[in-house]
Amino acid sequence: MNAPTLRGLPIQVPAYVKNAKLIAWVADMVALCKPAKVHWCDGSQQEYDTLCQQLVDVGTFKRLNPARRANSYLAWSDPSDVARVEGRTYICSEKKEDAGPTNNWMAPAEMRATLQPLFDGCMAGRTMYVVPFSMGPLGSPIAQIGVELSDSAYVAVNMKLMTRMGRAVHDVIGTDGSFVPCMHTVGVPLAAGEKDQTSWPCNETKYIVHYPETREIWSYGSGYGGNALLGKKCLALRIASTMGRDEGWLAEHMLILGVQNPQGKKYHVAAAFPSACGKTNFSMLVPPTGFDGWKVTTIGDDIAWIKPQADGSLRAINPEAGYFGVAPGTNMQTNPNCMLSLKSDVIFTNVALTDDGDVWWEGMEKDTGDLPEHLLDWKGQDWTPAIARETGAKAAHPNARFTTAATNNPALDAAWDDPAGVVIDAMIFGGRRSTTVPLVTEARDWQEGVYMAATMGSETTAAAVGQQGVVRRDPFAMLPFAGYNMSDYFQHWLDMGERLQAAGATLPRIYCVNWFRKGADGKFVWPGYGENMRVLKWMLDRIEGKAQGRQTAFGVAPQYGEINWQGLDFSQAQFDTVTDIDGAAWSEELKLHDAHFDKLAHHLPPQLLATRSALQQRLGV
Ligand code: GTP
Ligand code: SPV
Ligand code: MN
Repeated sequence: MNAPTLRGLPIQVPAYVKNAKLIAWVADMVALCKPAKVHWCDGSQQEYDTLCQQLVDVGTFKRLNPARRANSYLAWSDPSDVARVEGRTYICSEKKEDAGPTNNWMAPAEMRATLQPLFDGCMAGRTMYVVPFSMGPLGSPIAQIGVELSDSAYVAVNMKLMTRMGRAVHDVIGTDGSFVPCMHTVGVPLAAGEKDQTSWPCNETKYIVHYPETREIWSYGSGYGGNALLGKKCLALRIASTMGRDEGWLAEHMLILGVQNPQGKKYHVAAAFPSACGKTNFSMLVPPTGFDGWKVTTIGDDIAWIKPQADGSLRAINPEAGYFGVAPGTNMQTNPNCMLSLKSDVIFTNVALTDDGDVWWEGMEKDTGDLPEHLLDWKGQDWTPAIARETGAKAAHPNARFTTAATNNPALDAAWDDPAGVVIDAMIFGGRRSTTVPLVTEARDWQEGVYMAATMGSETTAAAVGQQGVVRRDPFAMLPFAGYNMSDYFQHWLDMGERLQAAGATLPRIYCVNWFRKGADGKFVWPGYGENMRVLKWMLDRIEGKAQGRQTAFGVAPQYGEINWQGLDFSQAQFDTVTDIDGAAWSEELKLHDAHFDKLAHHLPPQLLATRSALQQRLGV
């Protein structure tokens, strides 16, 4: 220990912590938040086990039956704290226009004045965990260091699985290296001797705040997911997208996968789908019947940092080290690699508990053939098939999640941890649309691809608090995650493409997909999941010049005969249902593009309006 106490505060700084700025900041934040104790996380397994046991002792965690789910835990959150709170998420740039019309904004000084009294004494009676983490391989030139100060042990153990967390981070920042300061509190101070009233303390008032210019994050009142695990959406997307704008790279809401053909040629694909629209699933895809010798491997399931190289290529890394994925709908048919990732060493949040101490969620009955006779649902209440039929009660919350280290994934790509990243050959953008948007089309050039991504619509999901199933524009799947003005973000994409092309680079192809078109019966027409391999292969065939495709108003589509249908019964008529471009629907769709562009008029790149006019002309509407 450097000193028994620091400035008279209860902070015993471990000898290996040498960063003067970090120590001074922790001292300032201890003075502000007034925790009873400070715990410097070292990231060890022993620390993880101890903190998990503490969470068991206070009732936040239930230890699952080790015979069924070794070293795994279940947490049930407060029913008011189950997802990201977009309405309470702020980008506090100096100028409002730099946050843009899609972000909540408050002037930094005003926000600081708002948060100051909330943070004053907010950790009373609790432990402040100092959580050092690296987004990206430790010491890599593209990685970013963050330090999260949190009064939630749940956050500390999740960060251990989700990031490179622990002592080694201090070696990276040394005495004077920089880091992104991330403040987090559940916002429930305890009086002397007072114990928590609930196993998931949180505050009705919530603020998820970013100061992009000073690269700071302040989160108040929630303990859940992206609200609280600040390395993920807050740092790796909102703050990092701002860094990318300033430094010429991209921070995207994208999975990254490797796909190898039977000849051994390997491609890398990045895909942006909005929250709960299929990234984890696609990144772990198991090729179906008819694809002998094909292999898909996961590099990342949620976030990609993509940097242009001197040779004109775009290289991508996954800044995360674990998955915080949607549990409902996951089973051995839809995503076997995911199910295998969940065998041990998992933290589950808001799934149901079986009578033999295991977990359950909607969709698991596809594996067992039966619904369980009895469960405790995510609210801790009795659940039976009869109750579910009567009340419609879900056993698992629709945004129930698992946290697991990437190393649990049997399909993990050998290069997942490579600091150099992988070269991206294709980019995919896809929303959740029951109508209008076809299964797949290829953009004719970068600009058309940027248009497709910029105008993407998707039905809202349980990943964010609010109304579900309503179509909204979710440009680049980044609506909730862009740390700056959305129109400037479009411009940044166009500029990067132009710069690379001017230097003679071949840009990745851009595709637009929609796995979610529904038929007259209200059911998904496209089988999805592993069958998405058929679409992925068509994309690679396009890159290799083996598929001619067919020109449509909205890019180049596959001809029926260009898809490998071996092992799947999918008729030309069904294919037409998911690929058809309906004039009347597109006329309505264009109106939505217009309304979207009207909202984004300030700094909107004129190329997008030109692309829109060309699209309208081709549609003849
Ligand atoms: P975030 O972690 O919120 O960013 O989500 P994600 O994009 O990783 O979504 P995920 O892969 O977890 O899928 C979310 C939901 O969509 C799950 O319930 C899946 O079962 C469902 N889903 C995923 N892929 C497909 C698909 O190809 N077709 C259909 N119909 N549903 C899918
Ligand atoms: C998302 O909502 O896109 C997620 C989950 O990946 S969370 O980490 O809660 O943001
Ligand atoms: Mn996500």
